[in-house]
Amino acid sequence: MKKILVLILCPLVVGPIWGLAQRVDNAEENKQDTTRPYQETYRPQLHFTPKAHWNNDPNGMVYYAGVYHLFFQYYPVGTQWGPMHWGHAISKDLLHWDEKAIALYPDSLGYIFSGSAVVDKENTSGFGKNGIVPLVAVFTYHDPKGDKAGRNDFETQAVAYSLDSGKSWVKYGHNPVVKNPGIRDFRDPKVCWYAPTKSWIMTLATKDRITFFSSPNLIDWKKESEFGHNVGSHGGVWECPDLYLVEKSNKLNKTGKAIWVLSVNVGSGAPSGGSATQYFTGDFDGHHFTASDTLTKWLDYGPDEYAGVNWSNTGNDLYFLGWMSNTRYAGATPTSTWRGGMTLTRKLGLAEVNDHYYVTSVPLTETLKKNASGSQQIKKNSAGIYVLESQKLNSPFMLTLNADYSHDFAITLRNKTGDKLVLGYDKADNAYYIDRSAAGKTDFADGFGARHKAPRLATGKEIYLQLIFDKSSVELFADRGKTSMTSLFFVKDGFDKLEISSNQTDFDLKHAGLQWIKSIWTGK
Ligand code: FRU
Repeated sequence: MKKILVLILCPLVVGPIWGLAQRVDNAEENKQDTTRPYQETYRPQLHFTPKAHWNNDPNGMVYYAGVYHLFFQYYPVGTQWGPMHWGHAISKDLLHWDEKAIALYPDSLGYIFSGSAVVDKENTSGFGKNGIVPLVAVFTYHDPKGDKAGRNDFETQAVAYSLDSGKSWVKYGHNPVVKNPGIRDFRDPKVCWYAPTKSWIMTLATKDRITFFSSPNLIDWKKESEFGHNVGSHGGVWECPDLYLVEKSNKLNKTGKAIWVLSVNVGSGAPSGGSATQYFTGDFDGHHFTASDTLTKWLDYGPDEYAGVNWSNTGNDLYFLGWMSNTRYAGATPTSTWRGGMTLTRKLGLAEVNDHYYVTSVPLTETLKKNASGSQQIKKNSAGIYVLESQKLNSPFMLTLNADYSHDFAITLRNKTGDKLVLGYDKADNAYYIDRSAAGKTDFADGFGARHKAPRLATGKEIYLQLIFDKSSVELFADRGKTSMTSLFFVKDGFDKLEISSNQTDFDLKHAGLQWIKSIWTGK
């Protein structure tokens, strides 16, 4: 549906709905110092963004030989969505990134849409030569000509491999490896190894459901089953799924089995409007996924985490990262020479609340602390407000606080222009919220300037909040990851004042402190 809309408005562009914002002109565009791209006004200092141009979904995330690879949907010609490539960046700590050459270019079979990568340790594919273990990327070809012609079979699945640690890639000579049965939205393969049946499992988004395929060798695929057309959120098309086992040591369910999670990104209709990542908990037996309940659960309730999936080949640890934007306005955000970017990496776990399983997500706190330049406690003034005034609030920091759930409280960040970003806990609603309605520029997209909320799932009395602020984003992690929210904002000046206050007079925090985190782009 979304592609049809774009075609009507802009016949030369075939692609997702973000193309709608194509003609938005941002004054910022011409004002920036392009010789220091990482110093641009809204450029995140803790998050990956490509040096220039458009990016969306994270792709092919794989850990190999001490290095985390992050590929991403990339259009290297402009700051709007266009013919998709896989860009590439690497990291040793999931915080500092080094952008590399483009890994996959579009070709006669189509654009290179989202997908995953695996380490084929046993060389099941036969791509390995001379004992070199191949890295295999499994991705979607999106044929723009087929799309434009109104066909239904223009998305297919294909493979490519690398024998030099992801530096260069060879596309398999007999692509596609999964043909399209006539489903317009047939994409974003996430592949994992399922040891009990010695099979690769492909989890594929197929319009309004997930289709599972299995393969002994990453080349010959057999359809196993479908899941989900009648459960979960269906406000938009299903995209970018992931299937994973939550670390056994975190929690065993009552039968002693570990929990499988199927996450599914949905293009619109999410709690904060537009796109977000929902998930199902349950069991996977190598053929079928069975959900343990029919609740619709969200990995991040904020407006700006989408297309998130986990790195592959990280053992029992699950590291998750999403695109930090929203399909509603991704093409209109007021950035300059680049557009898009990623969330911080999160470690996923499992919590049981009222007999239901929830995926928890927390930032890599120790890694962030290692990159800290100092810390500061926030003191209460005579009016009962916790206040910190500092120009340093314009640079990245992590704020942590312990509060009691019996009080409302608001954390307000202000600047000299009068912009304010307000976050907090609403006792009556038992919800956390982020209100960016007065936080600078909002008029580039309808509905951007809004207050978004997320339920507090934790049942204990103590509230523990971890908030990570960067130039143009905040990520909220509450109660050891039971609730998380990501939100972009575009203030006209850097923040210089932080206040934590409550309407209730006996408001007291057990702890309120922050750590200043150094930019990951120092020298760039
Ligand atoms: C999600 C998505 C994917 C697709 C890619 C195209 O944001 O629409 O489903 O593969 O983006 O760039």
